[in-house]
Amino acid sequence: MEAEFWRERWRSGCTGWHQETVNPWLKKHWPALDLPTSSPVFVPLCGKSQDMIWLRQAGHRVIGVELVETAVRSFFKGRDRLFKVVNTPNNLPRFSGGGIHIYCGDYLELSAAHLEAAPGCFDRGALIALPPEQRAVYADHMQRILPDGAQVLLLTLEYDQAKAPGPPFSVPVEEVQALYGTRCGLKQLDAEATGDLPPHFQEQGLKAVTQRAYRIIKNT
Ligand SMILES: C[S@@+](CC[C@H](N)C(=O)[O-])C[C@H]1O[C@@H](n2cnc3c(N)ncnc32)[C@H](O)[C@@H]1O
Repeated sequence: MEAEFWRERWRSGCTGWHQETVNPWLKKHWPALDLPTSSPVFVPLCGKSQDMIWLRQAGHRVIGVELVETAVRSFFKGRDRLFKVVNTPNNLPRFSGGGIHIYCGDYLELSAAHLEAAPGCFDRGALIALPPEQRAVYADHMQRILPDGAQVLLLTLEYDQAKAPGPPFSVPVEEVQALYGTRCGLKQLDAEATGDLPPHFQEQGLKAVTQRAYRIIKNT
């Protein structure tokens, strides 16, 4: 999707992906990664996700990236926290407050240095927010900027893409394997099919969606 698409979504308040509560599969599956609690954790395409607060409360230094400044400001405003803004390489301003740091700009502008060798990453609503050609670029960049041995907890959705255009997009198991399988180890942690769908999926005639969780480990 183009940057303007996301800016317009934030401008018009069409942010149906946003959850006011912490993602249950983050709570359920994060412990499987067994990361040191004080280690940095990367949250790509973070929006104003409450999951960042949960990760912070778990002891992690949280490093997000979000294209749209309104979203970043809204995150800190919602927490009623002071934040400061500093410039960083590639002209990416970084908003920081309460142990949470969000780069405001394009994910593809991030380098390994921005991520402070984060050994963990939580991807909910990031890979699946992108159309197929952008997903390949996204996953390739992820494997370039994460350090060897880093782990990603990835959540995906699968559904009949012919019925609904996305985003969020359907990303089947085979695609996750193709995107990450060469340079990473992959384990599927969970899968759940549900017919209890949000209105935008129902309106498009979808009857079921399968959610999956993967643990991805970048080879050393
Ligand atoms: C579907 S939302 C998911 C947000 C968050 N992960 C969550 O679970 O609530 C995708 C977010 O990615 C942001 N985004 C889209 N393209 C981006 C890019 N190239 N770099 C950084 N952020 C981007 C959008 O503005 C939007 O907030």
